[in-house]
Amino acid sequence: MKTTISQVANHLEQTVTIGAWLSNKRSSGKIAFLQLRDGTGFMQGVVVKSDVSEEIFQIAKGLTQETSIYVTGKIVEDTRSKFGYEMQVSGIEVIHESHDYPITPKEHGIEFLMDHRHLWLRSKKQHAVMKIRNEIIRATYNFFNENGYVKIDPPILTGSSAEGTTELFHTKYFEEEAYLSQSGQLYMEAAAMAFGKVFSFGPTFRAEKSKTRRHLIEFWMIEPEMAFVTHEESLEIQENYVSYVVKSVLDNCQLELDILERDLSKLENITAPFPRISYDDAITLLKEKGFTDIEWGEDFGAPHETAIAEDFDKPVFITNYPAEIKAFYMKPVPDRPEVVLCADLIAPEGYGEIIGGSQRIDDLELMKERYEQHGLTGPEYKWYQELRKYGSVPHSGFGLGLERTVAWISGVDHVRETIPFPRLLNRLYP
Ligand code: 4AD
Ligand code: MG
Repeated sequence: MKTTISQVANHLEQTVTIGAWLSNKRSSGKIAFLQLRDGTGFMQGVVVKSDVSEEIFQIAKGLTQETSIYVTGKIVEDTRSKFGYEMQVSGIEVIHESHDYPITPKEHGIEFLMDHRHLWLRSKKQHAVMKIRNEIIRATYNFFNENGYVKIDPPILTGSSAEGTTELFHTKYFEEEAYLSQSGQLYMEAAAMAFGKVFSFGPTFRAEKSKTRRHLIEFWMIEPEMAFVTHEESLEIQENYVSYVVKSVLDNCQLELDILERDLSKLENITAPFPRISYDDAITLLKEKGFTDIEWGEDFGAPHETAIAEDFDKPVFITNYPAEIKAFYMKPVPDRPEVVLCADLIAPEGYGEIIGGSQRIDDLELMKERYEQHGLTGPEYKWYQELRKYGSVPHSGFGLGLERTVAWISGVDHVRETIPFPRLLNRLYP
């Protein structure tokens, strides 16, 4: 019977066939240990010379890395491995021989591995990170569906900028100029007025000349938007969502977290509510921590975020930033218009900002004022203003960066390992 590595627990003491690749091998005169992978998982196959024909044993001994095979054998328990099962191999049929596979078990440099990303994805660690990414996506759909949200897909080709005009990817749209979306938010606001609670999940693009371990040119964002929801209420949704995602990964990705040697106690601690610190207090805290140069009104960089986060063992909301350094659509704090109803959620352990969110301006006159201040005068913004004209309501939303969240939960240093084919400042290949 044909099965997969992920299903072998259902076939204990049965003989099955699995389509697999050979990821590694050790052999002696009497026995060969085959490290098998089939996409669903990794498992050891044992070929004992005295139990199989001479032909099968010679095939096993001659297998080269990444050769594809159909391997047949009995599934038995293996208490020494984390996986818990192995195969007593009785037959091997070679599908396609692989020669000179470039990624060998020895250490390789990062640029070499990135050049071979199409193959590197097969390795155990990369496989684990992608499975965790998949679990975060699955948990996201579950969370928002369970809580009455409608998934809405905003366009990727747009005629206006959502997050400032300096980081836009320009493209031709027949005779017009168009941009690749930096954020679906403006469209999600329209959707929230039509469906109440909505969320999107899609690729976004930032032509940022940043070469840090937190920046991608193309990244995926989850953007919920909620009508009749205040900033404070939005923070509760965010902490519940992030806690839910972390718990789902803990529950369903135990093998993957183990492969990545993730410190589970750090993740088990991630439960709502999360601490909040105002921008004002964050400035004071930073000064105390030796950032004597920082002045009220300046934006935080990665070292600032890390210094603030290290005082907390959960993600921390930094709230009420100066209006000056935030996007045009954020609602001012009543009686203190120099700061806005917004928060960035900073992950622990130095992973930086994973969420940016805010309550949106719902007053048409104020919105028009902000537009002028930001030089957003073109007709392409007309539709967005009309949302404030026909039954405007308080509403809030946020954007969670998927790759930074995967990096944090997986415990990998750089976002380039958290997306299948990263687009970086110096990389469009493969
Ligand atoms: O803070 P940002 O720019 O917020 C927005 O785009 C809002 N319109 C979202 C909303 O309210 N609907 O981006 C949101 C998140 C960041 O917190 C970060 O996690 C991620 O997107 N992000 C990036 N991730 C990887 N590479 C980049 N260059 C990123 N820029 C932002
Ligand atoms: Mg931000």
